[in-house]
Amino acid sequence: MSVKILGTGSYAPEKVLTNFDLEKMVDTSDEWIRTRTGIEERHVGAKDEAASDIALKACQRALEMSGVNADEIDLMVVATVSGDKPFPSTSCYIQRKLEAFNSVCFDIQAACSGFLFGLDVANSMMTFNPSYKKALVLGVEKITYLTDWTDRNTCVLFGDGSGAVVLERSDDDTSGLVSAKLACDGRYTEILVVPAGGSAKPIDEEVLKNREQFITMAGSEVFKLAVNMMVGACKEVLEKAGLKTTDIRWLIPHQANKRIIGAVGKRLNLTERNVFINVNKYGNTSAASIPIALDEIVRTGQIERGEYLLLTAFGAGLTWGASLIKW
Ligand SMILES: CC(C)(COP(=O)(O)OP(=O)(O)OC[C@H]1O[C@@H](n2cnc3c(N)ncnc32)[C@H](O)[C@@H]1OP(=O)(O)O)[C@@H](O)C(=O)NCCC(=O)NCCS
Repeated sequence: MSVKILGTGSYAPEKVLTNFDLEKMVDTSDEWIRTRTGIEERHVGAKDEAASDIALKACQRALEMSGVNADEIDLMVVATVSGDKPFPSTSCYIQRKLEAFNSVCFDIQAACSGFLFGLDVANSMMTFNPSYKKALVLGVEKITYLTDWTDRNTCVLFGDGSGAVVLERSDDDTSGLVSAKLACDGRYTEILVVPAGGSAKPIDEEVLKNREQFITMAGSEVFKLAVNMMVGACKEVLEKAGLKTTDIRWLIPHQANKRIIGAVGKRLNLTERNVFINVNKYGNTSAASIPIALDEIVRTGQIERGEYLLLTAFGAGLTWGASLIKW
């Protein structure tokens, strides 16, 4: 048997914030942002638009492409760091809005690697429990609510959006999820972190004064670790499958920074023709970046049945991984 991707969908909020808009907000420039990150614009959710609202549209599009009704979904795994509320899970809000009431649903948190963790969790559950036949796996972020719009080091990087896939358990094993490698290293928790707002440091006046409810990051440390971690994970999944990088149609790296993506591609001996980049349009949408990119590839007809996709991500935790898919 195999677990296949039946369809994909994505959505980003209407409001677009360009680098030129950011020039008016903090001491930065379009030139600095473009040359250091490759980002030109990002989408920002409206005040009354929750993560579950952003996710809903991506899920509806993925279901429509798959020809699957919401009530056929029996499993839903939602990767997010910027969910609707501390609890209940954002997946329960999405389930209600989608009317996917036959699904077991839950959230997972692996920051920007979340979608890859979600895929592997769903794949494992569907492989070992035949009652899970069709699943929705999605990444969604309204991460701009965790963004400090006075901090030029971080506010230029992030954007909101969602991407979703519909998975199906199938007896035909000529395509589907092939292999995955996930990893975590908790020794690096503090280099990319929202310091307050949880039980370790509830929000109080001191927190608000120090702006500790927002993302803080040691950018260059994250950069160096990210490249090595993603390259290592990619090599491991390829080796496990007995494939070479030349067998890959598309490398879909987490869209955090064009320079990181370029360095990973180069270390894997891949050319621009095989490394997908859309960070210029969305910024870093955390757990949503890979499924948004995948949806763009699928909807623009840039992948054919039988070709291989290699997905790779890294994020806060640190967490990282890679996943190989035969389309
Ligand atoms: C954040 C990042 C773009 C910075 O790029 P960089 O090449 O490392 O930047 P540098 O260290 O050369 O430059 C930093 C300088 O630029 C300044 N700077 C930072 N943000 C700026 C901005 N938006 N506009 C203008 N200047 C900025 C800093 O204040 C610093 O100035 P200083 O040298 O006077 O102190 C880069 O480190 C990065 O992308 N890291 C990974 C981040 C990431 O992907 N995080 C998400 C993980 S999922």
